[in-house]
Amino acid sequence: MFGDTSQVDPARFREVLGQYPTGVVVVTAVDAAGEPIGMTVGSFTSVSLDPPLVAFLPSQSSSSWRALRESGDAFCINVLGSGQEDLCRAVAMRKTDKFAGFDLRESPAGNPVIDGAVVWIDCVTEQVYPGGDHDIVLGRVLDLDHGSPDQPLLFFRGGYGSFTPLSLASGDTELLSHLGEIDLGRPHMESLANGFDTEVTAIVLVNDEMVLAASAGRTDIAVAPTRVGQRLPFMPPIGSCFAAWGDSALREAWVRSVADSLDSEQVDVLRRVPDLVRERGYAVALGHQAGAHLELVATRINAGDPDVSTTSMRDAFFKALDHYNQLGDLDDVELRSLSAPVFDANGRVAYMLTMWGRGDRVTSDELRGRADALCATAAAASRAILDR
Ligand SMILES: Cc1cc2nc3c(=O)[nH]c(=O)nc-3n(C[C@H](O)[C@H](O)[C@H](O)COP(=O)(O)O)c2cc1C
Repeated sequence: MFGDTSQVDPARFREVLGQYPTGVVVVTAVDAAGEPIGMTVGSFTSVSLDPPLVAFLPSQSSSSWRALRESGDAFCINVLGSGQEDLCRAVAMRKTDKFAGFDLRESPAGNPVIDGAVVWIDCVTEQVYPGGDHDIVLGRVLDLDHGSPDQPLLFFRGGYGSFTPLSLASGDTELLSHLGEIDLGRPHMESLANGFDTEVTAIVLVNDEMVLAASAGRTDIAVAPTRVGQRLPFMPPIGSCFAAWGDSALREAWVRSVADSLDSEQVDVLRRVPDLVRERGYAVALGHQAGAHLELVATRINAGDPDVSTTSMRDAFFKALDHYNQLGDLDDVELRSLSAPVFDANGRVAYMLTMWGRGDRVTSDELRGRADALCATAAAASRAILDR
């Protein structure tokens, strides 16, 4: 009923097991002459919390493992960062002087810690068990810490890589498909930006994030040197065009992302915004200060600034709520931005075009003039997608 296990071809074993990804560690120690020694290992795992134990599985035929074993009981696990492929290969191949050209420091237990490793773990050998042609080395953890904030290096199907969250990976494919649509509308974006001496941007919705994917022209009110690449949560007050022309689930997701922090009256007002935007044909944001603050916080979050939390971003969004999509005729206002949807061939919003203000006040006639030009541009960009 079961196959003969001796029939498993080693090449097939390697190939099939290669479908399982691993991280990569370098096990380091110091030899009798005081020189650093090491071995590249994928078969590393945590084993037990109490007592704290980890393990790795070296080949019994490995000269590196023999050297580690002869050096004594102490060793250090260095989890390599995604930029350390060179070091990983050097340690796996070189027989001597494996760390030439790489920086090391000393761990509390006196083992070599590799500069740039994302984690180091000082261990003492607890037990070595035979496991076929490999050994199973159980190490008791003495001390451990984070090192570099980099992503860890991953090994999969014979190649090296790093981790990307699924949401981002699928989002990137979606983003790419929208970039082609935006490119078709680029001449229209540019003539609008030139005509009004301002900046026009194209924003796509990818999963629950809005990504600023392209820009034409300039405006003095921009906070960052370029807005392209900025990612913002799909959360009121921004992104109302996607909610206005999206299906009911998308509208609901947009409202629900902030509903917990609002009272019921504010939620009611917010629920009416998508219909208002649809009636007008465009979204309006007023007030330079609130908008600039929101953009500054978003820019700093995008740049990985550790001093800016997502809570401060939510605060900035709430402060800006009243400045977006106000009812009634808007006259003598600080126009921050106007946004209109560009549709794909299926009638869904492909991207949102935003025409930025120039830092001045505008009359209702001026506002309507700019909005008409924006909507005409968005319609031309939609036609460009339909005609391609
Ligand atoms: C990504 C990677 C993972 C590896 N994982 C292991 C492992 O888990 N166990 C092992 O014995 N060798 C592993 N090796 C091979 C050793 O690092 C080393 O190349 C091999 O032992 C060479 O033999 P030597 O120790 O006699 O120089 C790995 C190599 C690479 C590049």
